[in-house]
Amino acid sequence: MTRTKPRVVLLGKQGAGKGTQAARLAEHYGIAHLSTGELFRERAAAGTAFGLEAKRYMDAGELVPDDIVVGVVEECLAPGGPLGDGFVLDGFPRTLYQARELDRVITDSPLDVAVNIDVPREIVLDRLAGRRVCEQCQRVYHVNMPPAHDWTCDTCGGRVVQRDDDTEEAIDRRLELYETETVPIIDYYRERGVLVVVDGVGEGEEVFERIVKAIDARIGCP
Ligand code: AP5
Ligand code: MG
Repeated sequence: MTRTKPRVVLLGKQGAGKGTQAARLAEHYGIAHLSTGELFRERAAAGTAFGLEAKRYMDAGELVPDDIVVGVVEECLAPGGPLGDGFVLDGFPRTLYQARELDRVITDSPLDVAVNIDVPREIVLDRLAGRRVCEQCQRVYHVNMPPAHDWTCDTCGGRVVQRDDDTEEAIDRRLELYETETVPIIDYYRERGVLVVVDGVGEGEEVFERIVKAIDARIGCP
């Protein structure tokens, strides 16, 4: 069976724009968007034991343990599961263990491309400090580009708020873990020949066009 939809992993520091770009890529290619962070936040908001456990790690800027994360993602990626043929993964994998587990789960049809959205630290710090998110549909805003009316989401009317882990301490810890746990994945994907590095500085639209160009080149789209 041939596959026409891309299988994409987005890598990049916290605040690099993974969530912003993943939502647009999902719409552009008609593929599913899986953000492990969003999935955990939804479950925490629903008050499930699993969600509340995950929230403890997230609010401290720590990673949720690998076995928990892999279990959840495996359910989504299983044949016939919600992710289907093509997908964009945002925030997974973020340890070498998770990258190897992903390869194990999708052996039938491997990844097309891992896009590393490259943004310097001082820029992500500024973006994270200004980020606001709809607590209902998770649409991402920035204080410089707020919703049209009084912090009410333009898409669903939900309340637009600051994330609980966008505190100075949690941001420092998340960026530290990015360097120690997630950066090794970049080489992992480079060695497998699927890594593309895209400059993530510039207008969102410009960055989106760079990513689409990189994905299309990988999947042989003209
Ligand atoms: P997650 O929700 O994935 O958060 P994160 O990794 O900290 O990444 P961010 O969401 O902060 O950044 P982003 O790259 O998505 O940036 P965004 O598009 O929002 O994970 C949260 C937590 O869950 C983790 O800390 C961990 O505890 C746990 N977790 C999740 N996955 C896990 C896993 N696999 N293993 C273990 N634990 C896991 O953009 C940021 C801001 O910048 C926004 O305001 C946006 O409007 C703005 N912006 C975006 N692009 C541009 C641009 N081009 N120019 C100007 N501004 C821009
Ligand atoms: Mg995100």
